[in-house]
Amino acid sequence: MSNKRKTPEELRSHRWYGVNDLRSFGHRSRTAQMGYDREEYAGKPVIAILNTWSEINPCHTHFKQRVEEVKRGIWQAGGFPVELPVQTLSEPFQKPTTMLYRNFLAMETEETLRSYPADGVVLMGGCDKTTPALLMGAISVDLPAIFLPAGPMLNGNWNGVTLGSGSDTWKYWADLRAGKITEQDWKGVEGGIARSPGHCMTMGTASTMTSAAEALGFTLPGFASIPAPDSRHAQYSAKTGMRIVDMVWEDLKPSDIITRKAVDNAVTTCLALSGSTNAIVHMIALARRAGVELTLGDYDDIARRTPVLANIRPTGKFLMEDFFYAGGLMAMLKELGDLIDGTQRTVNGKTLGENIAEAQIYNDEVIRRRSNPVMPDTGLAVLRGNLAPDGAVIKPGAAEPHLHVHTGRAVVFKDYNDMSARIDSEDLDIDENCVIVLQHAGPIGAPGMPEWGQLPIPQKILKKGVRDMLRISDARMSGTSYGACVLHVAPESFIGGPLALVKDGDMIELNVPERRLNVLISDEELARRKGAWVAPDPRFTRGYGAMHQMHVMQADKGCDFDFLQREGAGGGCGGGGEPEIH
Ligand code: FES
Repeated sequence: MSNKRKTPEELRSHRWYGVNDLRSFGHRSRTAQMGYDREEYAGKPVIAILNTWSEINPCHTHFKQRVEEVKRGIWQAGGFPVELPVQTLSEPFQKPTTMLYRNFLAMETEETLRSYPADGVVLMGGCDKTTPALLMGAISVDLPAIFLPAGPMLNGNWNGVTLGSGSDTWKYWADLRAGKITEQDWKGVEGGIARSPGHCMTMGTASTMTSAAEALGFTLPGFASIPAPDSRHAQYSAKTGMRIVDMVWEDLKPSDIITRKAVDNAVTTCLALSGSTNAIVHMIALARRAGVELTLGDYDDIARRTPVLANIRPTGKFLMEDFFYAGGLMAMLKELGDLIDGTQRTVNGKTLGENIAEAQIYNDEVIRRRSNPVMPDTGLAVLRGNLAPDGAVIKPGAAEPHLHVHTGRAVVFKDYNDMSARIDSEDLDIDENCVIVLQHAGPIGAPGMPEWGQLPIPQKILKKGVRDMLRISDARMSGTSYGACVLHVAPESFIGGPLALVKDGDMIELNVPERRLNVLISDEELARRKGAWVAPDPRFTRGYGAMHQMHVMQADKGCDFDFLQREGAGGGCGGGGEPEIH
């Protein structure tokens, strides 16, 4: 980015609309066909609005209205808005998992921007994978880009009880299975747990990743915490539209924003929020798109020094609506003090430090002071050992403390169907000290690494009042989930990782303080089992699925496609080895 403002002739869209040749005639005549006179767009920045709205995404229902507010802002600032629908990635509906399609939306974002006359882009997302996908694509294209977060929904409510999405689903489902609530109660929870537009209002993947996007510098300051139905959400949407037009003239691109320090700020943010473990995979993928090598080791280092300040479920007590009223993300970032590098540039042209300078905490029970954190340093732990040579993760704060150091007998399920069929069987030889192991739930094996990682506790153990057991898989877990769940085991079992070699009766050792995860069998026995291991048949023989299984990388590398990561930051649209578009 230089201090010089672009001229209209330097706009990328000038190549489509501004030159006097046959192709430009076609572009202009077809724009006239849509009802626009030349004066309405000539010499103006063309702003693509990538909208993930659809009639099957409940978290984005308000985007139909918000996009009009974005357009209003773009028009007012002298730009030309062009709304382009892209994949919706609806977390509650898409099977087997939206994660299978995160890279699809990232590619769609990149190719849509590359192939149309966009000078800048507003990215409209929020429901879990939409945020990383849109940002990954935009980072790869490197056109001026600003993110519009969907905002959390309002607190859930049932008969006066505050409900949090996801977390309370698991809680009341366990109560229903244990016979503690009635079917009528369960229906009441169904009606009250999601009562407004917006993404999940617990500290799930959506709240974690929209907050990470803000800490990275990709949203207007304060936007990520505003609840979706709040009128300020509409106002910020219009401001987002206004700001992107100036970003184009200033040529403020993702490569000016996403630096190593900005990535560390975002990781610190995720950890101080006690955010979703999914953010690890997404942050690694995002960073690698920008040529920043973020490793699980980096994550663990930052985790050890970052206190949890956000008292939000499932780790804490409150919800995102409360967090907003308590001062929101900016107040929490300010309280983090020297753990945040305030020199990093953001989309409004100011530094992160300038943006948060005036922020205040209005309720320090919801946003804790550093002197009184929710947890001092245990937001997340990266584990290694002979069961996870390339790493695995656990959220100790969401697990019962007595399981942080635990050795137990493995009860192994070879896949999700096997687990569903047997987990509640009275004949299953299992007790609360056992370790439940699920295989074939990783990026290739499941496929798409679904959020199966909060493996169910057998009904007969639930009935004893037990609510947590050690569970291990190569799956992910919803950020709204909780329990002693070891996740993201890499390499995954489907490609012959050690998790594939575990058998019923093996003893498994977890030691969170020492970051260890081992199956207690000899190296010789492990090698013998590996020699006898037979690779399963591929999941797909054609289509996107076949491409996914051929190119998706393991969890410790962010599950991006190997051909999409970038070796060094920069490049951009028409650069970085990509062909120029004519
Ligand atoms: Fe969309 Fe949770 S279902 S964020």
